[in-house]
Amino acid sequence: MYDRGGDKKCIKLNVLIQNVIKGKMVSRPKCMHMQTVKWELCPNNTVQSFVGRKKYMTKDLSANELDLEVHKYLNQFDIGPLMDHFKLLGDGQLLEVQNKTENSHLYYQWLSCLMRVLKPKQVVELGAAAGISTIAMATQLDKDSKLYSVDIDPSIAWKWMSYEYPQVTKILGDDLDMSIWPKEVDLKKTDIWFFDTLHEKEQLQKEFDLYTPFFKKGTVVVVDDIRLNDGLFEIWNSLPYDKCENTNPCHYSGFGFFIV
Ligand SMILES: C[S@@+](CC[C@H](N)C(=O)[O-])C[C@H]1O[C@@H](n2cnc3c(N)ncnc32)[C@H](O)[C@@H]1O
Repeated sequence: MYDRGGDKKCIKLNVLIQNVIKGKMVSRPKCMHMQTVKWELCPNNTVQSFVGRKKYMTKDLSANELDLEVHKYLNQFDIGPLMDHFKLLGDGQLLEVQNKTENSHLYYQWLSCLMRVLKPKQVVELGAAAGISTIAMATQLDKDSKLYSVDIDPSIAWKWMSYEYPQVTKILGDDLDMSIWPKEVDLKKTDIWFFDTLHEKEQLQKEFDLYTPFFKKGTVVVVDDIRLNDGLFEIWNSLPYDKCENTNPCHYSGFGFFIV
């Protein structure tokens, strides 16, 4: 069977097929629009030299190129020193944060590295739950950056956040109700959006209908669980932007982002 280059290739192909079956490996769709966007990047790709630096070079990036930049950080990223921030989590969630579960679960670390690469001034998170993704992003933001984190459920919202972060503004309410937003918030200034609320097609569609008018050019929009059901994946597929899917290695239930 398939033996075009000896046993090794055959084995590789089999592993690939097994991963696809297990949902571990999903090919990346090509960017729909190869438009490029100017982003500020730190001048050196090592995490250590990045911390504390204030001047960055600018570079034009497509979504796939941005993902590669984030992966350069990810490859060196050590979640260990941050574990104190996650001390309220149970064992299962800790394994997820450390990406030690059976299925790929690197998106918390990927979000941390995205903050390091882009150094956004304003981030909006729709769907915080107990705050794991909030911590992953907040710990990497400059002190003068803002992270507006929204959740509707007071029984769970941010309950695993053991520290307060000056960057984080918690907003308890329904993200489909625009009256939740404090008057001083200018959503059009948002550099990064993270969509992760109720995983139903209707909800995600309503969120995009409501928030797309606030997307500025160059905004990075991250969407979790895009392969959780057909409805969510339909929406993902229909998005007319420069997209990059990184389900593998970020989240086995589907993960991706696009640049506006
Ligand atoms: C999947 S969890 C978020 C997980 C979190 N982003 C993380 O990665 O750690 C989804 C959250 O969305 C919240 N949610 C559901 N519908 C919402 C709505 N309409 N507005 C705001 N939050 C909502 C739920 O209460 C739940 O905590």
